[in-house]
Amino acid sequence: MEELYSRLAPVWDATLTMSGFKRGLCRYVLKTVSECKVSEPKILDVGCGTGLVSFALLKKFPGASIVATDVNEDMVRKAEQLAKRKKIDEKDLIIGRADVLDQDVVTLSDDSVVHLSPNSFDVVIASGVLEYTPLDLAVPKLLSLLKPDGLLMVISIKDDTSVGRLWGKVYKFVPIEKSELKRSLKVHGCRHVIHSPLTYKEFPANMTRTGLLAVK
Ligand SMILES: C[S@@+](CC[C@H](N)C(=O)[O-])C[C@H]1O[C@@H](n2cnc3c(N)ncnc32)[C@H](O)[C@@H]1O
Repeated sequence: MEELYSRLAPVWDATLTMSGFKRGLCRYVLKTVSECKVSEPKILDVGCGTGLVSFALLKKFPGASIVATDVNEDMVRKAEQLAKRKKIDEKDLIIGRADVLDQDVVTLSDDSVVHLSPNSFDVVIASGVLEYTPLDLAVPKLLSLLKPDGLLMVISIKDDTSVGRLWGKVYKFVPIEKSELKRSLKVHGCRHVIHSPLTYKEFPANMTRTGLLAVK
């Protein structure tokens, strides 16, 4: 999996932009964060890839402070390059390496380490990443970083379509069953868990991805 994403890192942003996937995915995320009605949200984007969701969030919410992390060094490097090109201030967006299972420890490119505080984020976004981790270890870790009443947004690959299953083969994971994800979120203490699918307005991202929103 590491090797796959290292190969994809140079072309990830361009491919998702040209296919329209980025527009659809970001539309969904921006709409959902807007509904939280937090004017200067503190957001954690885990498994951020090349940072496309974080960049869109900063454009829409200039007062936001975002931490974007990925386990893959090549993805992180590419995200840093894009952030530099977009002239994004490091105080608004921290980009670093972290495994979801050890999410509170973020290693920056100069090898310094930032420790994320418990209960400190308004929104945690996990887009296309929980498929790679044991749910019952990842979910409590992410919830521990959310403020009380904070929102965990899980955008996962559809488990109930042949496109989703095909995607799973390409990207080397088994799609998460919605019922299993809901169970894990509830067992680990989320107050509300709702299925909030991407709509046709988010095409083509709605073909392969779906959303679950959970309030801590
Ligand atoms: C399908 S991509 C999603 C990228 C981005 N979030 C998006 O929606 O376009 C999955 C990303 O998750 C990362 N990833 C996989 N396992 C991870 C883990 N245990 N911790 C953090 N990131 C991980 C991969 O390196 C890859 O960048």
